Amino acid sequence: MAQQSPENSPSGKKVALGISGGIAAFKAAEVLRGLQRAGCIVRVAMTKRACEFIQPLTFRALSGAHVIVDDYAPDNPDPIAHITFSQTVDLFIIAPATANIIAKFANGVADDFLTSTYLASTSPVLIAPAMNTLMWHHPATQRNLRQLQSDGVHVIEPDEGEMACGTIGPGRLSEPKNIVAAALDILAHAEENTSRDLAGEHVLMTVGATREAIDPVRFLSNNSSGRMGFAIAEAAQKRGARVTVIAGATTVTAPDSISVIRAYSAEEMHAAVMKELSASSVFIGAAAVTDYRPIAPSLRKIKKTQSLLAIQLEKTPDILQDVAHAKQNQLLIIGFAAETENILANAREKLRDKELDAIVANDVTRAGVGFDTVTNEVTIISRDRKAPIHVPLMRKTNVANIILDEVVRLRARVKPAAVIQPPIRRPRKA
Ligand code: PMT
Repeated sequence: MAQQSPENSPSGKKVALGISGGIAAFKAAEVLRGLQRAGCIVRVAMTKRACEFIQPLTFRALSGAHVIVDDYAPDNPDPIAHITFSQTVDLFIIAPATANIIAKFANGVADDFLTSTYLASTSPVLIAPAMNTLMWHHPATQRNLRQLQSDGVHVIEPDEGEMACGTIGPGRLSEPKNIVAAALDILAHAEENTSRDLAGEHVLMTVGATREAIDPVRFLSNNSSGRMGFAIAEAAQKRGARVTVIAGATTVTAPDSISVIRAYSAEEMHAAVMKELSASSVFIGAAAVTDYRPIAPSLRKIKKTQSLLAIQLEKTPDILQDVAHAKQNQLLIIGFAAETENILANAREKLRDKELDAIVANDVTRAGVGFDTVTNEVTIISRDRKAPIHVPLMRKTNVANIILDEVVRLRARVKPAAVIQPPIRRPRKA
């Protein structure tokens, strides 16, 4: 029987692996082995249905520990196993996660060991769904997945291919090596919070949505909540950076530890950024800046007298572009691209035109991605890298750390701190 100990588990991270009842249950053995090879200590729990596909003995042999199926069973050594199990791990993985277990998690049903453990869990949770394609596409499953994502659960999407039942489409359990990689990524970034690799940097950021007045009660804006930007700000600060945020409208509260300067419009955000820029060494434009504004906002509320109303718009100042134009020395400039089509091509164009060091592209048409979600899926394109980095759907707090990893890498290539020219003033048209 394979014994695990801190000696043969260098990182010593504790992972709970939950297995629910699907044909892919046998692949959980490969996930377990991959995690062990990476130095994790793995405990296994199975649903009763999972035991019909593969015996608990297999996992007991591989993990060297009792496999919990039923915490009421007389052979269970721990009478409150779901509490001890959930409170003592660094990560809880469910692979495969059936439509049934996803539905139970999403609705807080706790009718067996695995579901009770999920409810009592305080660690990050990663689920790897596997099911028939029709079940995967069913609105109920998709609704439950969205619920779990908004509850902060990491989801690794199933692969496409031929299913055991003969249908072809998405639903196959993601490759065990991908599940292991996603798990290690979550564990690494949970740990990174203690790393100080951004010490000495002053990160200036834009966050949230700007608003452009149409009249005293109406405005043009967008759905940016501020989550993505604040997640980066908080992570950067934990990693040792001094952080200044220029925030437009946000629906989430700024972290207490972050210094926030509020700006209403693109013009105000532009002015605040230019004022702070000379003291900064990294600029990150996460805000959704309204691109157009009414040329002449009405000073009084516009009455509903006309059936059609035409409002003439003009471009707002491009903050990111002006930051790039004002750049001196080694200021690192990271932009975002919120796209709905030709994601990578459009993002590359912005990277080139705005002379950025890197751009973070998100396809905001996808569920759980972009505006007002707790998760994001992005592609980071850096000026000096041939291949972009694809960051699968995960919590924005984790995406933030991966973006900051890239900032650290870019900084290592060019060291001296930034010195910036005085701010550019861009007068608003009368
Ligand atoms: O706040 P959340 O709800 O968490 O949502 C996150 C997000 C979707 C807002 C974020 O991930 C994101 O994509 N932010 C950029 C949104 C955007 O405006 O993208 P864009 O492709 O239109 O702009 C490209 C870049 O230019 C961005 O860095 C933007 O900040 C910047 N820009 C755009 C216009 C302008 N006038 N000034 C700018 O600085």
